[in-house]
Amino acid sequence: DKQLLQQRLELYDINREAARFFYLNLKKKGNNAKEYLKERGISQEVMKSFGLGYAPHSWDDLLKYLKKAGYKEDRILLSGLIVPKKEKKEYYDRFRNRIIFPIFDARGNVIAFGGRVMDNSLPKYLNSPETPVFNKSDTLYALNIARKNITDNRMILVEGYMDVIALHQYGFKNCVATLGTSLTKGHAIKLKKYCNEVIICFDGDEAGEKATLRSLEIFKEVDLNSRVLIIPDELDPDDYLRENGSKVFKEQIDSAISLIDYKIILAKRKHNLTEAEGKIKFIKELAKIMRDISSPVEREVYINKIQKETGINEDTIFLEIYGRQRKKG
Ligand code: CTP
Ligand code: MN
Ligand code: MN
Ligand code: MN
Ligand code: MN
Repeated sequence: DKQLLQQRLELYDINREAARFFYLNLKKKGNNAKEYLKERGISQEVMKSFGLGYAPHSWDDLLKYLKKAGYKEDRILLSGLIVPKKEKKEYYDRFRNRIIFPIFDARGNVIAFGGRVMDNSLPKYLNSPETPVFNKSDTLYALNIARKNITDNRMILVEGYMDVIALHQYGFKNCVATLGTSLTKGHAIKLKKYCNEVIICFDGDEAGEKATLRSLEIFKEVDLNSRVLIIPDELDPDDYLRENGSKVFKEQIDSAISLIDYKIILAKRKHNLTEAEGKIKFIKELAKIMRDISSPVEREVYINKIQKETGINEDTIFLEIYGRQRKKG
């Protein structure tokens, strides 16, 4: 109703004001935030387009600033930007001495913040809590920018703030990230509104691999095409781009692979295909996903691939996967 709408509008205002505060603090001398971002290769221009900022090393500078701007403490509390002290009644800033990444909704309202430390202390990232304007499980970082830069009807999905920012700087502006959570159906449905294909490009570690498999399933569920760009050597897209440049990355996007090809790669890594045992396990592992394929042509293509990998005859593979219901349909 009207009061709730009013509340949301005020939260947007408070967040916008806070984003301005962080942004102004990044420009001030005497902190190493700007140096940190420069050292990580982020250009001034990109800092500006993402509205990056700095939360000063202080207990309540932001709180004071927002009060001075006319906002009441209870409203500021609702934004998640301040935290009550043990004795309640008094508050301190949630984000202190961190690089700040404002999080926008698709329309450009500031709905939350992420904050990164500039050293190795933990937690590395801190995010706003859920608020009346911030629902973490369907928010995509940089959607406000990416939606205006769709190319080839495609979005690139990465894990982190720094990945999105690096891709953007290297010319891939159709890029979004989930916020440290795994992809949800809500995220996928949102993406489907803007593109008809997603390139999943997560970190090249085990966590990234697991998240990739889950995401592929979710995209299948909501019927949005998706392919995988595998980042090698435990790197993440940010590292990879800075090492290899735009041209290589673009090639990788264009040759991103399907769910089944991805599973074939993972299964190949797991099993020794020079041994009988390995071949059997390899085929059995792929059987389940192969059974989900309804297109006969697609089946044929992948059976042929499995044949090439294992040397086992295509009819035998077919029989192993589909049992007796041979080549029907
Ligand atoms: N994340 C988080 N809280 C943490 C760690 C991570 O919310 N304690 C989220 C952040 O959105 C982060 C993303 O998960 O961007 C991916 O995490 P990670 O790969 O560890 O960070 P990077 O984005 O690679 O950041 P950096 O390069 O600065 O280490
Ligand atoms: Mn990671
Ligand atoms: Mn990491
Ligand atoms: Mn990184
Ligand atoms: Mn990473």
